[in-house]
Amino acid sequence: MTDWTFRAVDVTKSYDDGKTFANDRITLHVEPGEVYGLLGPNGAGKTTLVKQVIGLLKPSSGTMNLGPHDLVDDPDAARQLCSYLPQAQMPINSFKTHEAIAITGMIRGGTAAAVAARRDALIEALDIGEWRDTLGAKLSGGVKRLVGFAMVTVWPGRVVILDEPTNDVDPLRRRLLWEQVRRLGDEGVAVFLVTHNVLEAEKSVDRLAIIDRGRILAEGTPSSLKQVDRGRLRLHVMLAPHTPTPELPPFVEDHTRVRSNLIAVISEAEAVHGIGWAQELMGIGIAEEYALAATTLEDVYVRLTGDVAAREPASS
Ligand SMILES: Nc1ncnc2c1ncn2[C@@H]1O[C@H](COP(=O)(O)OP(=O)(O)OP(=O)(O)O)[C@@H](O)[C@H]1O
Ligand SMILES: [Mg+2]
Repeated sequence: MTDWTFRAVDVTKSYDDGKTFANDRITLHVEPGEVYGLLGPNGAGKTTLVKQVIGLLKPSSGTMNLGPHDLVDDPDAARQLCSYLPQAQMPINSFKTHEAIAITGMIRGGTAAAVAARRDALIEALDIGEWRDTLGAKLSGGVKRLVGFAMVTVWPGRVVILDEPTNDVDPLRRRLLWEQVRRLGDEGVAVFLVTHNVLEAEKSVDRLAIIDRGRILAEGTPSSLKQVDRGRLRLHVMLAPHTPTPELPPFVEDHTRVRSNLIAVISEAEAVHGIGWAQELMGIGIAEEYALAATTLEDVYVRLTGDVAAREPASS
């Protein structure tokens, strides 16, 4: 039986005569049924990577294979086998919602009746029935995004690539969308998910890679990536505006500061001291609020890509 695992090996993409490495020796695989997250800051190289999967860009070097197909040499196979929701909105202005979804399903090889059934199920599951007969040109940004998602998944290929699928989507419908992403995985599709939303991704992906400046910094399941932080807590202190970082007590093992947010890492044994310190800061007006919580994937993400955050203008 064919193994339909997607494999990228040493994929490198450089721009400007090798001055910019948008992807730098990226090696990863996504199995059928797996939802694989690609997380990283702006400009990390995520879109560049997924565009190469679908044949919209050619790697400078490295290979990409899906089952027996070499996707780099055979971009036609790539387009046939992979469905792609681009980061930019789909050009659907002159189609009604139900037409846009049905047409893409049929172009991808579904029969009219089967596509119609799946389209109706998706319209209901994403709660966009209100706009079923609305022209694309008249849809709001978030609904257009959801219609784009339905177009791409109504008759999915073996690999579905979603570049920021939840952009502009309201919180309730984002939940519905994540359920559909999960369902794709359950149906045996390999899902490549590019997102900035680390906390939502944590609940939906099987494995993920955190990438920055074209390189994979860490890869694994959400819980394996959090393993390093087991037994530690994060004390999130919201500092008052324009306050310099206060002196840190010795029990703070690590800290990150992004604008007014000070995240101090402490061991579970120091929880009481941590709260005492945060309350003290509030008492003297340095802090406005605080929260103590278990480590999340977002903390791992901030730790790994934190130097990027530090490059942001110090506006606080
Ligand atoms: N056509 C191009 N020519 C030159 N450099 C490019 C080109 N397209 C992208 N880049 C550069 O490649 C790097 C990666 O860009 P990419 O769009 O893949 O980032 P991304 O991770 O998708 O970011 P975002 O989260 O903002 O969407 C960036 O430094 C970007 O400026
Ligand atoms: Mg991008």
